[in-house]
Amino acid sequence: MFEEIEQDQEISEVISRELARQRKTVNLIASENFTPLSVLEAQGSILTNKYAEGYPGNRYYGGCACVDEVETLAMERARKLFQADHANVQPHSGSQANMAVYMASLKPGDVILGQRLDHGGHLTHGAAVNFSGRFFKAYGYGVSRRTETIDYDEVRELARKYRPRLIICGTSAYSRIINFALFREIADEVGALLMADMAHFAGLVAAGVYPSPISHVHFTTSTTHKTLCGPRGGLILCTGEFAQAVDKSVFPGIQGGPLMHVIAAKAICFRIALSDEFKEYQKRIVDNARALAQALGDRGFRIVSGGTDIHLFLVDLTDHGITGREAEDTLGRVGIVVNKNAIPYDTRSRSITSGIRVGTPAMTQRGMGKTEMERIAEIMATVLSDIKNEEVATKAARQVEELTSDFPLYPEL
Ligand SMILES: Cc1ncc(COP(=O)(O)O)c(C=O)c1O
Repeated sequence: MFEEIEQDQEISEVISRELARQRKTVNLIASENFTPLSVLEAQGSILTNKYAEGYPGNRYYGGCACVDEVETLAMERARKLFQADHANVQPHSGSQANMAVYMASLKPGDVILGQRLDHGGHLTHGAAVNFSGRFFKAYGYGVSRRTETIDYDEVRELARKYRPRLIICGTSAYSRIINFALFREIADEVGALLMADMAHFAGLVAAGVYPSPISHVHFTTSTTHKTLCGPRGGLILCTGEFAQAVDKSVFPGIQGGPLMHVIAAKAICFRIALSDEFKEYQKRIVDNARALAQALGDRGFRIVSGGTDIHLFLVDLTDHGITGREAEDTLGRVGIVVNKNAIPYDTRSRSITSGIRVGTPAMTQRGMGKTEMERIAEIMATVLSDIKNEEVATKAARQVEELTSDFPLYPEL
């Protein structure tokens, strides 16, 4: 019907350029990854045509037999992967998953307690600019100035003082293992419900290289596109007692029709995550993050909290006299992609910052190992130590091109 106008040259050309960019750059964005081709294919499949408001076996549309099978498989695999009583695979994103849990457990104006955004938490954990900070009375805990790790005494103190209905743990920019048992102890003491947001480290949890929050919390939320390397989307896991409330909260509470093509891709991602190869991959992500943090530390860069237990870490650039924004721009020009990030107790604004966040899921997916982490650290250190030097930048850009060409990305495309 649209044969004449179907080929959209403008968009195809931009996608080609984006593929070239992804191939040629060293991607150290901690929240990004490269999905397997099977995940891409499911997302581009005809399942996108199907409306399926409701849940398997109980839909508001006819013709749902096939998508019921898809969603049932995704739910079963998610439950098996994370050993959870109940899984809802419909949230369109991590933020939507969090919103659904809040709608299932809170009334507008209730008190919530989450990790401060400027200390590694996420917008949806109570930031003033976000729905979580606007619809609920949000308080934030932080990290200790000395250790730069979560200050559990402060969490307990704030919980006793403000009596939250829901405590949220889980982070976007925090490199240490969270003590879920201690969070539960605090939640129980004040009669709060507990939610873990494992958006970042879900892949590590699936592989057993990070402790699972599931048995300690009432709700666990996640994205499926970071360490899990699935499609862009969200996931909620919960105990049986909250299953109905969570399902009602996702639909009809906050969403309409589920994205069945994305749910199929989630099912594929969960199946991959159950494999031994995936476990190996997650171990290598952490090994690489540790190697890269160590190599940057050896070259004089201060790593927040002294290192990492996971797939990411923060670099404090204060002693180098450059801002996070300058570092992001300078590294970006030579083909190393990072994001500026506030460090704990940062004195600079969120749009400038004193640090960068560095993560290894994407480059580990391309097959890089410790040797390449050393090379990347060397390039980063050289560039960041002399950010105005064009010769240094030109040489670094060449090295990045050589490095990435040794690790082909999506040769099939
Ligand atoms: C901890 C955490 N929760 C939730 C989200 C939100 O996910 P999305 O971008 O899919 O809404 C993120 C994304 O960065 C995150 O880091």
